Formats: sequence, structure tokens, C-alpha cells
Amino acid sequence: MSKMKLMFRPLLLHLLLYCAIQASGVRIESDPVVSEGVVQTELGKTVSLDCRVNGSEADEELVWLRNGAGISLKEGNTKGRSRVCVTPTLHEDNGATFTCHLRANATVGTSVTLNVKYPPQLQGSEEVAVEEEAVLVLLCDIWANPQVSSVSWTLNGSKVDIIADGFTLTNDGFTSQLTTNNVERSLHEGNYECSAVYPISGPYKKLFHVTVTEKTLKFPLMPIIAGVVVVCLTALLAIVSRWNRIIKCCK
Ligand SMILES: *[C@@H]1O[C@H](CO)[C@@H](O)[C@H](O)[C@H]1NC(C)=O
Ligand SMILES: *[C@@H]1O[C@H](CO)[C@@H](O)[C@H](O)[C@H]1NC(C)=O
Repeated sequence: MSKMKLMFRPLLLHLLLYCAIQASGVRIESDPVVSEGVVQTELGKTVSLDCRVNGSEADEELVWLRNGAGISLKEGNTKGRSRVCVTPTLHEDNGATFTCHLRANATVGTSVTLNVKYPPQLQGSEEVAVEEEAVLVLLCDIWANPQVSSVSWTLNGSKVDIIADGFTLTNDGFTSQLTTNNVERSLHEGNYECSAVYPISGPYKKLFHVTVTEKTLKFPLMPIIAGVVVVCLTALLAIVSRWNRIIKCCK
């Protein structure tokens, strides 16, 4: 009998503690459903978050924070239960943390984090005209959540030969950039395509129709220099004549 009591005591204590935490706690329910503190959603969708006080303190005032900054709530949306809505979800909502806690005691609260998925902005086609010997820059927006797993470039349907065709290729996680500093029609004219592998959907690709035009004469420099000289001389003459007048009236 005494043995039984000893066994039960820790369990009872545990239950009591559990009830105490529950009684003074708040919880967040969400649509879409929160899982392990994270709400999974997509760009442009709606997330609604519903914070409730557990048990006894049902008429306690609640506050909401987004990344630590207070969210203003309408009257009647703070007592015992408080709802906020994120609509439409934006890029900057990705990773944002929403916290709900008692106004009277900030340690009694809980948080959820949003994971906003968005695909890369790759679609359509672009006409690009570039002069021989000029710089050609092609840009593809590959910013996505989750990140794209790979980006590839083709020219007339076959993989772009970076070294042989004098290209440089960079990728900073936002933009994939294909550049060549000295355009040659035989090497660089044609149809380019950049495509990105996004783990959730796709394919995502963008086309560029690049035409190489004759080199034209650069902006003529000599007339500009002559013009600048005339302007400077005129200014100088104006100052000199005024200086004469100033000197004259000082005498
Ligand atoms: C806030 O709540 C915690 C946990 O319930 C409690 O330990 C603490 O004493 C409370 N603080 C105030 C100022 O009431
Ligand atoms: C790509 O195809 C176009 C059209 O057929 C052609 O004019 C161009 O020379 C080709 N470009 C390369 C680099 O082969």
C-alpha cells in the first residue's frame, strides 16, 4: 500500500504541474495548421492565427507581436481570445515570427513562425539587341523559397559553353547572370534559355532572343570638348569683365 502511494506521488505531482502550465498558458491555433511552431503557406495566401488563453484566466488581455513589434488590435479582439490575419502573405512574411502573450505577463505566451513558399520569377521571353564588341548581360531572377536546386543556360538548345564562348556565369542566390564582354555575332547570336529547378513545382524558364547588330560609331567626343571650352571661356570673360567693374568702383 505504501509502495503504491510512493509510485503515484511523482505522477500526481507531474499532473498538477502540467495543469498549472496549461492553466496559465496561451496557445495559438492557425489556418493552415501550425506544426512544430511553423505555419507552412505560399505567397499571396491568407494565414489566420487564433490565440486563446487556457482555462482559468479566460478574460485576460492578450497582445500580439510581429518580429517583436506590437500589432494594433481592434477593441474586443484582445480578451481571452485574439485573432490576427496575414493576407496576402508577402516575401517579407517569410520567417516572420508572431507572438501572443498576456498583457499582464509577457512570459506567458507562445510564438509561431511563417514559412512562405514562393517560386522563382521565371517566365516569358525577352528581345535583346546588342552591338558587336559590346557587353551582353542576361539576367534570370531565381530567388525562391525553398531555394532552386540548380540553374542551367542553353543557347539554341544546347548547354552554353562558358569557357569556349567567352561567358562568365554568376549566381548570388537572387539572380543568375550570364555575361560576355565582347559580343561576336557568330558565337553569341541566338535563342538563350535559362531554367531553374524548383523542388515544389515547375518547370521555370525564361527565353531571350538575342540579335547582334553592326557596331555603330560611338558618341562623337570632339564637338563636346569644343563646346565645353566655349562655355568655360565665356564664363571666364564674364568674371574678368565684372572684376574690372568691381575694381573700378573700389577706386
Ligand atoms: C508571470 O508568469 C510566470 C509563469 O506563470 C510566473 O512565474 C511569474 O511569476 C509571472 N510574473 C508576474 C509578474 O506575474
Ligand atoms: C542560333 O540559331 C540562329 C537561328 O537559327 C542562328 O542564326 C544563330 O547563328 C545560332 N547561333 C549559334 C551561336 O549557333
